[in-house]
Amino acid sequence: EDKKIVYSGIQPSGSLTIGNYIGALKNFIGLQDEYNCLYCIVDMHAITVAQEPKDLRKNTLDVLALYLAAGLDPKKSIIYIQSHVPAHAELGWVLNTMTGLGQLQRMTQFKDKAKKYTDVQAGLLNYPVLMAADILLYQSSFVPVGEDQKQHIEITRDLAQRFNSRYSETFTIPEILTPKVGARIMSLKDPSSKMSKSDPNKDGYILLLDSEDDTRKKIKRAVTDSSGEFRYSDEQAGLKNLINIHASFSGMSPEEIVKKYENLGYGEFKEDLGEVVVEGLRPLRERFKEIREDKAYLESVYKEGAEKASYLANKTLRKVYKKVGF
Ligand code: ADP
Ligand code: NA
Repeated sequence: EDKKIVYSGIQPSGSLTIGNYIGALKNFIGLQDEYNCLYCIVDMHAITVAQEPKDLRKNTLDVLALYLAAGLDPKKSIIYIQSHVPAHAELGWVLNTMTGLGQLQRMTQFKDKAKKYTDVQAGLLNYPVLMAADILLYQSSFVPVGEDQKQHIEITRDLAQRFNSRYSETFTIPEILTPKVGARIMSLKDPSSKMSKSDPNKDGYILLLDSEDDTRKKIKRAVTDSSGEFRYSDEQAGLKNLINIHASFSGMSPEEIVKKYENLGYGEFKEDLGEVVVEGLRPLRERFKEIREDKAYLESVYKEGAEKASYLANKTLRKVYKKVGF
């Protein structure tokens, strides 16, 4: 088939937030019919910061079950675990030999994470190179991710172009796909920083696997402002973020939401938003429980996925090795 390729991945570095869902996972689903999609659980990325092996193993299966619960279909898409396909590390190494140290040191995500951890390893710096390998191995045209990944997609494009011009046409140049609304969901407690599962304040994020009660409570406690005005503007970042979350789950536009609530106030809006999110996540939360318990099914999905992914990845890797002189 000559459908274009879509590629994305999520790290099993903890439980997923609604930021991961809105920015990435939710958008994976609708691409499955029009494209040949590969969706990976990037455990090799997760170990760029310290992980407890037992937790990593559990989180990997959690993310797989969340993928399936959200609607990824192994009959349509290739769903697999990164470490099961050695070609990622192999192409990653070749690309590392073509990546400027300075370019990696300038990455915002690296600088942010390097500040947070006392012990910074080379793997954290080289993270974007492994990500480039992930994407380029499959000749991907589109990469659905949140806005925080923009710089990493830029490096990926640079590397593809550099390789193609140094050797010969080898890699497809990928494009980023970010959602119109919700490409960057902010912390519910600090709307100047990205919603993240590593936020020490648990009220800052909603996990896909939080209880319905916690989901409602966290939304009620979310910071807004004291102006009392209901507008969609950067000056009201807390409210704007909540409107984005609403829009992502309800399908309404921010303008429609403002119209509906401008005479009702923040309290009523938050009350409704709690229900919109709880209702929106209910099917996923219910299916997750069932799927997560079925170890045999999960294993059959990731084994089949790894086989299909390896076949495609090795085709590209063989070309690359030949071109560099191996
Ligand atoms: P995290 O950033 O939570 O550690 P990953 O790096 O594995 O998770 O990112 C998985 C996907 O979720 C990526 O496509 C990323 O852009 C997206 N994402 C992460 N946080 C957010 C957010 N706050 N808003 C929108 N998208 C996000
Ligand atoms: Na990220």
